[in-house]
Amino acid sequence: MSLAPLRIVEGMLTTENADGTVNVAPMGPKVDESFTRFLLRPFPGSRTYENLLQARKATFHVTDDVAMIAQAAVGELLTEPTFIPTEMPGYHVLANCCRWYQLEAVEVETTGERAALTCRVVAGGRQRDYFGLNRAKHAVLELAILATRVHLLPGEEIDQTIGMLTPWVEKTGGQAEIEAFAFLQNVIAERRNAENGARESS
Ligand SMILES: Cc1cc2nc3c(=O)[nH]c(=O)nc-3n(C[C@H](O)[C@H](O)[C@H](O)COP(=O)(O)O)c2cc1C
Repeated sequence: MSLAPLRIVEGMLTTENADGTVNVAPMGPKVDESFTRFLLRPFPGSRTYENLLQARKATFHVTDDVAMIAQAAVGELLTEPTFIPTEMPGYHVLANCCRWYQLEAVEVETTGERAALTCRVVAGGRQRDYFGLNRAKHAVLELAILATRVHLLPGEEIDQTIGMLTPWVEKTGGQAEIEAFAFLQNVIAERRNAENGARESS
């Protein structure tokens, strides 16, 4: 199945856990211009990876709610997500999104560092308008990605990135972005302390 030309789109993915509950995680699949084909690339070890390999179903959401992305990225969703009713078993559509796509994996490759699941869109819909481009929202998104990679990154790089992003949030953010950025900074500080503690005691 051809996927070119592709871009990465960052958003939220829901998958169904073995017990029927819903897993919500930020993911950055590759997608074609018309959003008809997706390439999901979950790392082994994540719940999303396990669920996708098991059921081969997921719902991808385009959203501008970067606070939700920030919280889900570090496994601390502060508000319980709500879902809109759907006819399709195994799929869970977040109410808090702009657009959603129910995906079925038609090709699964697990030999690389990440899995690669080529997906077709089986259904989709629209919930609300997208806010629009905003540098503070993008800053929160960047920091959310960084928060999931603290164990891999040198401390100076983390400090530099925070230093670069902070003015974007201060100049262009609303309350939600300011709070989400501060929340992530706290999580990153905690994770760095934990990393340093583990290094010192080894
Ligand atoms: C914007 C964004 C995009 C992400 N994209 C991916 C991705 O494509 N693949 C992946 O394995 N993890 C990705 N992550 C990291 C996962 O969201 C993170 O590891 C999460 O804890 C996985 O949750 P789970 O174990 O519930 O699946 C991304 C994180 C963010 C913030």
